Amino acid sequence: MRDHAGPRPLPPKPEPRKERVSLWTYARLFRRDILSAQPARLYRAWMAEFRTPFFRSYLCNDPDLVDLVLKQRPRDFPKSERIRVGLKPLLGDSVFITNGDLWERQRRIIDPAFEGGRLRTVFPAMWDAGVAAVGRLSARADARPVEIEAETSHLAMDVIFRTLFSMPIEHEIAGAAFAAFRDHQKAQPIVNLGAVLPLPRWMRAPHSRATRATARTIRTLIAQLCETRAAEIAAGTAPDDLATKIMTTPDPETGQTFSTGEMADQVGIFFLAGHETSASALGWALYLLALYPDWQERVAAEAMQEIDPDKIYFSTLSRLRDARAVFREAMRLYPPVPMYVREAACPETFRERAVRPGSQVIVSPWHLHRHERLWDDPDGFDPDRFATPNGKQCLRSAYIPFSAGARVCPGSAFAMAEGTLLLAMLVRAFRFEAMPERPAMPVAHLTVRSRDGIFLRLTPRDAAALPRTEARP
Ligand code: HEM
Repeated sequence: MRDHAGPRPLPPKPEPRKERVSLWTYARLFRRDILSAQPARLYRAWMAEFRTPFFRSYLCNDPDLVDLVLKQRPRDFPKSERIRVGLKPLLGDSVFITNGDLWERQRRIIDPAFEGGRLRTVFPAMWDAGVAAVGRLSARADARPVEIEAETSHLAMDVIFRTLFSMPIEHEIAGAAFAAFRDHQKAQPIVNLGAVLPLPRWMRAPHSRATRATARTIRTLIAQLCETRAAEIAAGTAPDDLATKIMTTPDPETGQTFSTGEMADQVGIFFLAGHETSASALGWALYLLALYPDWQERVAAEAMQEIDPDKIYFSTLSRLRDARAVFREAMRLYPPVPMYVREAACPETFRERAVRPGSQVIVSPWHLHRHERLWDDPDGFDPDRFATPNGKQCLRSAYIPFSAGARVCPGSAFAMAEGTLLLAMLVRAFRFEAMPERPAMPVAHLTVRSRDGIFLRLTPRDAAALPRTEARP
């Protein structure tokens, strides 16, 4: 953690690299960790141009440029072919990597499943996952170190299985899929962002045999889930969950539903985007609360008051204001997806500079969320900031953890509900204490994680007040 002029230490932030380095050093730093490979000036710049013999990249921090790329003309800044190639073994033709007409059709079918009203339907499954997590952690809440990212991964995957396929992570297929995802990450920290930058082929690692093998295992398990569900839908016995909703929603333009194979491609990204990101955000939120016990007590007091362990209602969510503000601030400081990579499809002019077609266009929530010319106290932890004029302004123009515009995360409302509820449930049950001898340090893998994990000590607050599954609405 870095020194801070005031009494409160700042949350961890990687030391930026030196201002001038060779292309070779940059590529090496980049492959190791994209966050510490960047110079400090990017936290002040409106735009940065990187010119190399192989490619040109434009990192856009100017809110007007971000707006142009993400909201005004997203079709002119498609996802790059390299992202497709990087993720194809696992995701096939998933909505995350397609462009154009195919992508539009996929969103027309997927989006209704995540509309506001549906949140109420999946809320009990989120609660059940929270109850299960409190149960798992109760056995380890004896002040011994707990690596909390592993726990939040487990929990977020449980939420996805329960809401998508009405099955807990203990189910045989769910457990096998979760294990396969972990093996896949080990085989290739997926979208180590180095793999998606336009480095020449010799600087990029090809897919290893292990990567392809673990991707195959995941896809086989997902195909099995989708085929079983298709049969249940046909038999009229399918549960009312997200998978059924998506598989029975016709494209309003063509009237066609997803084939089972198309659905399997989408399920891959729901598992991946839905669990990696939420796990990262929840892990950092818990770490921040351990660093700032005054906020932890605020969240705990609110959760004690608002969450009745015998009776949980969807309306409780809107009253968990402190938990929501902490979750939001955690995603400001540690946006789970640190950068979005696009490609300029036609000639552009950015801030009076010519941008050639094919150039990489990078929108970086990591830098935008800590921009020194936009945010007050950009590196400080202050969940109350969102109630200030500066925080409100930045929320509108410089806060994009879920991206923005047409390609905004369809799971954003789902993820905000999940993060807020689970944070409140966990802090209501346990006190989380940081371990100064094992500080966390952010690095970018697929999502922003801690280099050596996040270790916290847990102690129970009040065993009598633990939430119960039967309390679900
Ligand atoms: C804290 C949790 C989450 C965060 C921070 C997050 C963030 C994001 C971001 C930034 C993108 C766009 C990436 C880009 O444009 O390059 C995205 C896309 C996506 N997310 Fe999420 N996400 C979260 C949770 C979820 C959940 C729970 C689901 C579904 C269950 C989900 C499903 C998707 C899908 C399908 C896409 C692709 C959308 C498209 O390209 O049109 N996400 N997410």
